Amino acid sequence: MTAKSVGFALYFLLMAGVALSAQDADAAKEITFNKDVAPIFYENCVTCHHPNDIAPMSLMTYKEARPWAAAIREAVVQRIMPPWHADPHVGEFMNDARLSDDQIATIVAWVKGGAKEGDPKDLPKAPVFQAGWHINPDIIFTIPETNVAAGNQDDYEYIYVPTNFKEDKWVQAGEVVPGDRRVVHHATVSIVNADEVPKLRQSHADQSKADSPYYYRTGQVNHLRPEVMVLDDGCSVPNGGGLPGQPSGGVNHVPAIYLPGHSPEVRPPGYALRVAAGSYLQFQIHYSNRLSQPVKDRTSVGLVFAKDPVKYEVAQYEIWNNLFLIPPGDGNHRVTSCFVLPKDVTAVAYTAHMHFRGKSMKTEAIYPDGRRELLFDVPKYDFRWQETYFLKHQFLLPKGTTLFTTAYFDNSQNNPLNPDPTKAIRWGEPSTEEMMGFWLAYADVTPVDASAAEAKIAH
Ligand code: HEC
Repeated sequence: MTAKSVGFALYFLLMAGVALSAQDADAAKEITFNKDVAPIFYENCVTCHHPNDIAPMSLMTYKEARPWAAAIREAVVQRIMPPWHADPHVGEFMNDARLSDDQIATIVAWVKGGAKEGDPKDLPKAPVFQAGWHINPDIIFTIPETNVAAGNQDDYEYIYVPTNFKEDKWVQAGEVVPGDRRVVHHATVSIVNADEVPKLRQSHADQSKADSPYYYRTGQVNHLRPEVMVLDDGCSVPNGGGLPGQPSGGVNHVPAIYLPGHSPEVRPPGYALRVAAGSYLQFQIHYSNRLSQPVKDRTSVGLVFAKDPVKYEVAQYEIWNNLFLIPPGDGNHRVTSCFVLPKDVTAVAYTAHMHFRGKSMKTEAIYPDGRRELLFDVPKYDFRWQETYFLKHQFLLPKGTTLFTTAYFDNSQNNPLNPDPTKAIRWGEPSTEEMMGFWLAYADVTPVDASAAEAKIAH
């Protein structure tokens, strides 16, 4: 070997060495599905993106996720996924679903680097889902098989299921699983006392006679009568926008609800709903069957009993404007509701409820001392994603606080979800009509054991 060729050989060895070490460094920071991306998906995506759940595709495995790489990058960069519609600058929420900037950067880098699979050894253990459930229920109640006639698009059914509880129970989490997602539009499960059940059954039967001054009925759904007074600015009158002579808000005891895009209710430790011995569960189910054949439904609710000692009892104020009128074609129609808290409560969670024309909703507190605070803001409401937002830090809303809710509706042709921009819209149970609801899940400020002690003394 000549000196020259030794030089060349050295040169090549050196270059190979450089290339090798660069490759080593690349390998070290190479973003792979198994090491970097799967943990993000398992934590933030697969609760919906697993087989037979609400999302169109599974992201559980590399094989399943790989074809979606470009779409995934778009969805996370634009923060369309995971769905989250509360303004992150207003309030902090336990169930905040948003990815961190780092997580988004990791996904972007993964896609840019060719969406590699990586070493199977790096793959974390995949979460396991029980058919249909996202919680681990201690007990499941299922309605009797219910027939939903072909083409029956709007049918509100009230079905009562006894709990047969022999003692009071505390429910920390709950989830409604539709029997047949094709026809169950929404389902609210409420706790009712056994002795109220016959009265409630009678009132559903009476409603079907439709002799109410406010409502008329078609099939199994209610609509506001067109001649009822119009009031968009509920906050301009003392009752805040409720039906004449009635308050805008009422109390409900809802362990779980199914709405489009809704996750299970998981309450903070120490906060739970009381289900008194012997209670019934009322399933209010909105069926909408667009299929040409009848469907049999068996919807269920699963409940998780509180494992931690229960400190505070949870219930919900459901606050409405019932009297609005949204003119045809109006792209930005304002409606307000106001509700004055009749007692001190601790705020636990918020839900905004409108239908296809809902555009935005925000709720302010006006405290008894006149101070105003924005509590909750959903700047771009989307009917398909009706989440309950659980507060990270529960806080006192004193008696006399006004909850001032402002909603905007888009009844124009620019709203792609709008079923019909040529119609004037009032309150109605079908999704093609509207509702304007703000729900506050709250807890009693008096701890459960203190109120039990008080009750004993009162005895
Ligand atoms: C709460 C349930 C839920 C969560 C959590 C969720 N998704 Fe989705 N995702 C859906 C549903 C339902 C759809 C289909 C409806 C739609 O596109 O609006 C969807 C659609 C998508 C699409 C669009 C598919 C298409 O047709 O182009 C992508 C991409 C996606 N999700 C990725 C993700 C990623 C990545 C995550 C986690 C970072 C995630 N999703 C979290 C429910 C969810």
